[in-house]
Amino acid sequence: MDFMIKLFVSLLLFFFSSLLFGEINGVESSNHHHHYHLYSPKKLFVFGDSYADTGNTKEPRAVSWRIPYGITFPGKPSGRFSDGRVSTDFLDYAGEKRLQYGMNFAYGGTGVFNTQVTFPNMTTQINLFEQLLGDVYSPSDLSSSLALVSVAGNDYSDYLSLNLSIAAIPAFINQVVDQTEVNLRRIHALGVKKIVVPTLQPLGCLPLYTLSASFQGCNDTFNTLVSYHNSLLLQVVAKLNNETNHSTFIVFDFYNAFLTVFKNKGEYPGSTKFETPLKPCCEGSCGHVDEEGTEKYILCDDPESAFSWDGLHPTQEGWKSVYSVLSKNLTSSLIKP
Ligand SMILES: *[C@@H]1O[C@H](CO)[C@@H](O)[C@H](O)[C@H]1NC(C)=O
Ligand SMILES: *[C@@H]1O[C@H](CO)[C@@H](O)[C@H](O)[C@H]1NC(C)=O
Ligand SMILES: *[C@@H]1O[C@H](CO)[C@@H](O)[C@H](O)[C@H]1NC(C)=O
Ligand SMILES: *[C@@H]1O[C@H](CO)[C@@H](O)[C@H](O)[C@H]1NC(C)=O
Ligand SMILES: *[C@@H]1O[C@H](CO)[C@@H](O)[C@H](O)[C@H]1NC(C)=O
Ligand SMILES: *[C@@H]1O[C@H](CO)[C@@H](O)[C@H](O)[C@H]1NC(C)=O
Repeated sequence: MDFMIKLFVSLLLFFFSSLLFGEINGVESSNHHHHYHLYSPKKLFVFGDSYADTGNTKEPRAVSWRIPYGITFPGKPSGRFSDGRVSTDFLDYAGEKRLQYGMNFAYGGTGVFNTQVTFPNMTTQINLFEQLLGDVYSPSDLSSSLALVSVAGNDYSDYLSLNLSIAAIPAFINQVVDQTEVNLRRIHALGVKKIVVPTLQPLGCLPLYTLSASFQGCNDTFNTLVSYHNSLLLQVVAKLNNETNHSTFIVFDFYNAFLTVFKNKGEYPGSTKFETPLKPCCEGSCGHVDEEGTEKYILCDDPESAFSWDGLHPTQEGWKSVYSVLSKNLTSSLIKP
């Protein structure tokens, strides 16, 4: 089974870790005698899709292993769907120490239901996790664990690609959120103590959906549907937290954080001011070449000046900015017992 799951061990230190999460250190040192009351996660388990995948999805189907993916970090393709680090890499700094020896089960292109890719859906990812319990991970490992559950919209792009009725989308959104609830309950029941649930990012602002408007504005039709998804998701999380009597489930509000970054005029320290946030750095069929080897995409000069990398994914600088906007809420919520 090892070939299907990649051990989540990353060896590099990032200079911005203290920038993003310095506050935790501050809280802990100023309340030193309360230190042991704070939750201090040590292992990170990751479920979901390309927003969280750090290399599970393999060639030949995954563009994430092709040039120019990975040009900023680590300098060559590494299986991440970006020019560099992705959401998982930034969350990995949520504690005082790196969250080591957890595992990443996320596969690009997957959803809570089966999509057109044949990689494991979230249910199957959780099955893989369950099979490791007892042998590889003990209950005490899980008692100091954190999970990231990324549902970034592949169920919906799949639905749209099948030309199914737009009028029926709200019913489908209910199904996606219901299945997400099943998954969250299961991960918690298996023993994970803290579970991070991002809201769905504003899909209508992603280059894939703003191309027809020359990247000038977001598509409100899509964003209205995303808001519906998020309102249901927030109700689910509130219900689950009520049932557990703890702040077990933590929402990272990607939807508002993305919009805040798009509108940033320089007022958020640590968040880059992007001139054209809706325009991707890698435009066209990113990662693809024709029979003669000619690139079917155009790359911008400086990936750090772009929020979007390709049609669907933020750049490393984009993710860094999203986490900067979230950082205040994030640090306080993660250490709440
Ligand atoms: C996940 O994938 C498995 C294997 O294809 C399938 O049996 C199962 O029904 C899927 N789960 C959901 C919730 O779609
Ligand atoms: C959906 O519609 C588009 C354009 O009309 C067509 O190219 C595509 O093949 C259709 N997809 C499916 C799955 O029917
Ligand atoms: C948004 O996307 C929908 C579906 O593709 C399309 O019908 C609509 O015209 C778009 N709206 C804008 C403002 O671009
Ligand atoms: C949880 O829900 C129950 C029933 O709706 C309600 O009575 C209770 O006040 C809620 N508890 C919290 C902590 O919100
Ligand atoms: C939550 O608190 C209520 C009332 O204080 C209690 O009846 C219930 O058993 C608690 N549930 C859990 C899961 O601890
Ligand atoms: C941070 O938390 C506050 C208070 O709960 C909330 O109003 C705000 O929207 C949150 N910001 C983000 C980016 O999640």
